[in-house]
Amino acid sequence: MRPLSVLVVDDEKVQRDTLASILAEDGYQVIVAQDVPSATAALTESNYDVVLTDFRMPGGSGLDIARKANEVCPEAAILIMTAYADVQGVIDAMRLGVVDYLLKPLNVESLLRRLEIIRDRRALQLEVNFLRAEMNRQSDAGTLLGESSAMTDISKIIEQVAATRGTVLITGESGTGKEVVARSVHRLSAQSGNKFVGINCGALPENLLESELFGHKRGAFTGALADKQGLFAVANEGTLFLDEIGDMPRSLQVKLLRALQEREITPIGDTKPIKVNLRVIAATNRDLTAEVAAGNFRQDLFYRLNVVEIKMPPLRDRRDDIPMLARHFVEKYTKELGRPMRPLSSDAIRQLVSYPWPGNVRELENIIERAIILSKNPERIDVDDFPATLSESALSNAVPQKLDEAMKVFAREHILQVLSSVSGDKKDAAKLLGMSLSSLYRKLEELDISFKRTDEPK
Ligand SMILES: Nc1ncnc2c1ncn2[C@@H]1O[C@H](COP(=O)(O)OP(=O)(O)OP(=O)(O)O)[C@@H](O)[C@H]1O
Ligand SMILES: [Mg+2]
Repeated sequence: MRPLSVLVVDDEKVQRDTLASILAEDGYQVIVAQDVPSATAALTESNYDVVLTDFRMPGGSGLDIARKANEVCPEAAILIMTAYADVQGVIDAMRLGVVDYLLKPLNVESLLRRLEIIRDRRALQLEVNFLRAEMNRQSDAGTLLGESSAMTDISKIIEQVAATRGTVLITGESGTGKEVVARSVHRLSAQSGNKFVGINCGALPENLLESELFGHKRGAFTGALADKQGLFAVANEGTLFLDEIGDMPRSLQVKLLRALQEREITPIGDTKPIKVNLRVIAATNRDLTAEVAAGNFRQDLFYRLNVVEIKMPPLRDRRDDIPMLARHFVEKYTKELGRPMRPLSSDAIRQLVSYPWPGNVRELENIIERAIILSKNPERIDVDDFPATLSESALSNAVPQKLDEAMKVFAREHILQVLSSVSGDKKDAAKLLGMSLSSLYRKLEELDISFKRTDEPK
């Protein structure tokens, strides 16, 4: 790690020079300033890890330095050196974000210890940022699979929107991958090294949700024992994912709208708003337009959120993706569970493709995981490794409900089968079916069957 840079501000030359040489000897990079204006100039010119400033100086105080440092160099840890008499001044300084104070005359050892703590914390922070970025990159939860045209379109939209910091609304049935999309947007964005924070807006009672999102001051309500940072602040510079936005209580919808419009939030019990700069992604499996029409969801908030809408298609509308998704999950769970790798049989794939998947990709994933756990077939994963509902439902899905239509489906299948058993010889087929040849021809036309003799020369 590079050496920490320290700006030392003190009007007394001896004090300044002593500090500078002690710190330089300990491996810090030191810049000195003798008053508020020159410290201000130094702060504007470059960044510092630490600002170590005297409290009382002619023509300004350590508070002015703290204020300026907060403004132009917010990552800097500010340490104030003060005489004992300045307790009130120290309290004011803490309010300005000063991390600590040192009593004069200075104890060199305690100064160096504090700088070490700051250095360690900074190193940890860098490490955390790095690991978080790494995790985001590797996380399976951020990889959207699918080669159907619907999914390739969605991938393109994700790439485009990731390059901006615009708000995104993701809609679609449960289990269609809304959270996967939200994470992809974050991962592909310039803020991917910063936080992705998600919250389920339907899972908490109103007052808890409010304090989760916006934070609160200590004592703001019974049980608020300490200040709490809201998720808007936690996710600052990153992405805030508001899941199940359709379940957000109306009173909070107003507060959310204001936060999005003003780009600032006010913690409960606080008067000062905090500026925030982050991307908001919202998701819902409800039809928000209908919720707006029914008066459950604010129209102005809907427009605010719906800058870019990503509609996740149900899995049954993109059946082309089922085989590759199924194979992906087979591989994933085989590895995870340490089982020998087995392919899916073609019957198994056929059954997966024809099932209507009310629970979408999540249901597919669960069924594959279950099959990998339970399967006794050493060779391949087969239909008998799936729950019975799958085959029942696949049948009832293929056969229409109305009796005459169902009978047509059955008749067609049956005639095709008989025809193929006699290599397409219609006279033989008619005999087996117990009908005249002319009735068979009428049936074939009615049921739209064209079956060529398979033993005929081409
Ligand atoms: N396109 C996809 N590629 C890979 N995995 C996916 C895909 N879509 C969904 N999944 C997987 O399916 C599961 C459900 O996805 P996700 O949680 O994103 O759904 P959701 O739309 O947020 O559902 P809900 O509305 O119930 O919250 C996850 O385990 C996810 O990894
Ligand atoms: Mg979800």
